[in-house]
Amino acid sequence: MNADLGLLSTSSLTLREIEGVLGAALRFKRGEDVSKPLAGKSVALVFFNPSLRTRASMQVGIYELGGNAVVLEPGGTSWTLEHRAGAVMDSDKTEHVAEFVRVIERYCVAIGVRTFAALKNWEEERTDPILNAFAQYASVPIINLESAMHHPCQSLADMLTIREKLGVGRKRVVLTWAWHPKPLPMAVPNSFALAAAQMGHDLVIAHPPGYELDEELIESLGANVEITNDIDAAFADAEVIYAKSWGSKQFYGNTDQDIATRAQYRNKWIVDEEKMSRTNSGVFMHCLPVRRNVIVTDAVIDSPASVVIDEAENRLHVQKAILARLFGG
Ligand code: CP
Repeated sequence: MNADLGLLSTSSLTLREIEGVLGAALRFKRGEDVSKPLAGKSVALVFFNPSLRTRASMQVGIYELGGNAVVLEPGGTSWTLEHRAGAVMDSDKTEHVAEFVRVIERYCVAIGVRTFAALKNWEEERTDPILNAFAQYASVPIINLESAMHHPCQSLADMLTIREKLGVGRKRVVLTWAWHPKPLPMAVPNSFALAAAQMGHDLVIAHPPGYELDEELIESLGANVEITNDIDAAFADAEVIYAKSWGSKQFYGNTDQDIATRAQYRNKWIVDEEKMSRTNSGVFMHCLPVRRNVIVTDAVIDSPASVVIDEAENRLHVQKAILARLFGG
């Protein structure tokens, strides 16, 4: 990570750099680092989609580092944005990312961007076209606040949470698909799997047939990953259960077919007490927001095994560490 590149995914970070971010985050969390590397500086936060944690934790983190957050919502409180090079803008888009970025970077030292997958065109969206348009035109760091394919701030907070709860070293970490009434993007599972593999954890990815993650992403995880369609086997001896729902690549752009296909997995692909009882005193993690009694039962999310609130808190500390690293803290 450097000021030229920002942070689009953790694939740009070495293990040493990830460890550096986690260490710095812990120093912020413990109050050992009260530096203000953003004093007198502003950071733009561009939200194409809703957010609670990301928006609040970025705003608070920038403030705590001495800076000022400028929140922009294209199509809401700022103009609709076109990202395609060469587009003839005679439809609903008012401004191009080319001008947006070049103007904003005259005011701000970095730009955070949230732009979810539209779940319409897999081959296009898997290339993260909107996030990459920002990176293409920017001369300030771009920080991914969840794109179509990655959510690195979340996955770094997840790694910090695992470190805090279970200590240093390799853990048996299970990323499990869960039933949800409609298909969701893959950014969180992609980034969690990637970061867990980078940290050297024993990673198990459990999902029903047809819900495979991106092949290139899976290849990038290396050999220390097990993929299974058997949710019961996956939970055995797990030290971390990380639940998330995502859509099927094969039904991308066909929501109704995905909904019809996934119906058979309701009640089976849910994190409940029975499954948690077969883990190795496993902790329950989810990025939030989560649908109670759909993804996870009340009994699990309200149990001592649930670390979801600490996980959300860690977004703040990790993002301060990312910003401080970019700006010399
Ligand atoms: N986990 C996460 O990114 O939460 P928000 O969508 O609320 O920002």
